[in-house]
Amino acid sequence: MQEQDFLAGQAFLLAMKKRWTTGLYSQLQEKCHLQAAHNGQPLQLADIRTFLEPDPDYQIFAWLERHLQKMKYSGPYGLAPYHRERTEQLSAQLTAEGAAERLELADDFEQPAYYQAVDIHQQPGGVWSEAVSGLIYERGARTTTPMLGQEHRDLHDRFAELVLENVGQLPQRAAILDLGCGFGKSTRPFWELAPEAIITGVDLAAPCLQLAAAEAARAGRQNILFRQADARDTGCAPESQDLVTSTMLLHEMPGTGLRAMLAESFQLLKPGGWAVHLDFWLLRDAFDRFIFEGHSQRNNEPFMRALFDMDVKAEAEAVGFEAVELTAFAEDSNIDPESWPFWRFPWTVFAMQKPA
Ligand SMILES: C[S@@+](CC[C@H](N)C(=O)[O-])C[C@H]1O[C@@H](n2cnc3c(N)ncnc32)[C@H](O)[C@@H]1O
Repeated sequence: MQEQDFLAGQAFLLAMKKRWTTGLYSQLQEKCHLQAAHNGQPLQLADIRTFLEPDPDYQIFAWLERHLQKMKYSGPYGLAPYHRERTEQLSAQLTAEGAAERLELADDFEQPAYYQAVDIHQQPGGVWSEAVSGLIYERGARTTTPMLGQEHRDLHDRFAELVLENVGQLPQRAAILDLGCGFGKSTRPFWELAPEAIITGVDLAAPCLQLAAAEAARAGRQNILFRQADARDTGCAPESQDLVTSTMLLHEMPGTGLRAMLAESFQLLKPGGWAVHLDFWLLRDAFDRFIFEGHSQRNNEPFMRALFDMDVKAEAEAVGFEAVELTAFAEDSNIDPESWPFWRFPWTVFAMQKPA
């Protein structure tokens, strides 16, 4: 595959996704508003299913959601064939001087069955099964949500800032743990904003952790470790962490896994420590619910739908957390989550504290 064909193909898919995010999505939302006005009452989820599922505009919306993503990864100009053809050359990005000291991979690591069962986000082989999986995921993540706002800063930076402003004074050499850190995109803002902190990133996927460790090494970052482990059993000592965080992990675990992860983070936090997670949860109305149930299915994210039904506050309190709060998160300074007219994830901050 020629580089320029790949770039043009991916640019086309992104342009299509922008049209989908704005025009097609808004059209469906408007149809539901008009129908509700006609009925004289808000539409319930069952009404929306009956109304939209046979609608050709919805069918086009749904087909494009699944197939734009599929083409992005597996089509003729897809990320997977592009990276596979260049495995040897691109694998250089997975190593750097000092990276080995920042990386702890497990021998014969056995991936959980739920994790192997489905190609999350439709990435073929998932983010864990081949040398270039982390690089494919990294490239794909750059265009997951087309940037529609004005501020071209990453939402991970905004989230880390919010967390560090709100958890009170951390010790200078605070221990911070990022669960499900992937290729380190969610970890990086913490090591940038808290340069003295001792940071651990945990993930199941070795190819992602290698990329994270190489980037930290290239940046000369000390006191950081990327460890291959399960967020339900991290290998961190009890009461060793000042702050536990995760970004987009909760919706990628089955409910039992999420409960186990909450229990694990509770026991490895120091008394008074905070756990703050960023994920998708607060839906505005039945239309949002319909759209994200569909997204869960079409984007191969089987646990997202179940997460919407979970009472995460009650689950967190059941393992002992207090001050549990769920709040909407604006991923861009010009976005009001309540009134944003285009497609966006229902970003939600889950904050909770271990009693002092
Ligand atoms: C959507 S990605 C988010 C990655 C990163 N936090 C970010 O914001 O870019 C979810 C990550 O969770 C990891 N993951 C899923 N289940 C896990 C588990 N039980 N333990 C550790 N990591 C897990 C996946 O391998 C993946 O890297």
